[in-house]
Amino acid sequence: MIEIFANSQELARGAAEYFVERSGEAVAQKGFFTVALSGGSTPKVLYQLLAAPEEPFLSQVPWSRTHFFWSDERHVRQDNPESNYRMAHEAMLSRVPVPESNIHRVHSENPDANAAANEYERTLLQLTRQSLPQLDLILLGLGPDGHTASIFPGSEVLHETQRLVAAPWVEKFDSYRITMTLPLLNNAASVLFLVSGAEKAEIVQQVIEGPKQYPAQAVQPTHGQLLWMLDKDAADGLSNRHE
Ligand code: 6PG
Repeated sequence: MIEIFANSQELARGAAEYFVERSGEAVAQKGFFTVALSGGSTPKVLYQLLAAPEEPFLSQVPWSRTHFFWSDERHVRQDNPESNYRMAHEAMLSRVPVPESNIHRVHSENPDANAAANEYERTLLQLTRQSLPQLDLILLGLGPDGHTASIFPGSEVLHETQRLVAAPWVEKFDSYRITMTLPLLNNAASVLFLVSGAEKAEIVQQVIEGPKQYPAQAVQPTHGQLLWMLDKDAADGLSNRHE
């Protein structure tokens, strides 16, 4: 499913409404909500909106019953400006009534990225008590090269079938990344791709309407919902405008 919004602000509002809806359903069903946050720049507006005192979302999200994870993380300390945890903390988590014990960040300060990935996998398994955790909502972005989370074109992690979290080396960043793998992403109850801006129009068209060649196309939830939320600029290349 694809939803297109007039601009990045309306896109964030649409995503906030979906977040509230999913959190309410999950808590009604099983008493808690598990969500994986994405990094990069696009979701920051969403996080700020969810925490904004003048907006309805702050009182609508069941923060005390919401468990936060990350779909990927950079191999940096949590206070590094590059940290996805830091971005979400500053934009939202430090401004909402969520218990610290509900925030499950990647211990990316660990110099051994692979060990950090293994530890994060154990955290997911322990908390969900599922051999293949089904997170209620996973947020993802889309890079200009068709990557999502930290699953980049040509990466060995594309072929991972056992591990839930991996630490691929990313040549172009000369660094490791810690990322949820396809088996975990595709077991989610819902996956939301949030994509904004004219610079993404070409890759959005190729990923949604083109032949299979990009990592983001491998995200096809087995039982769950796949939702693309785009602003008008990012959707500009789509032949079938889904308005
Ligand atoms: C990261 C992300 C990554 C991101 C895309 C899009 O850690 O960088 O998780 O997958 O979602 O690169 O990033 P922008 O939203 O900044 O364009």
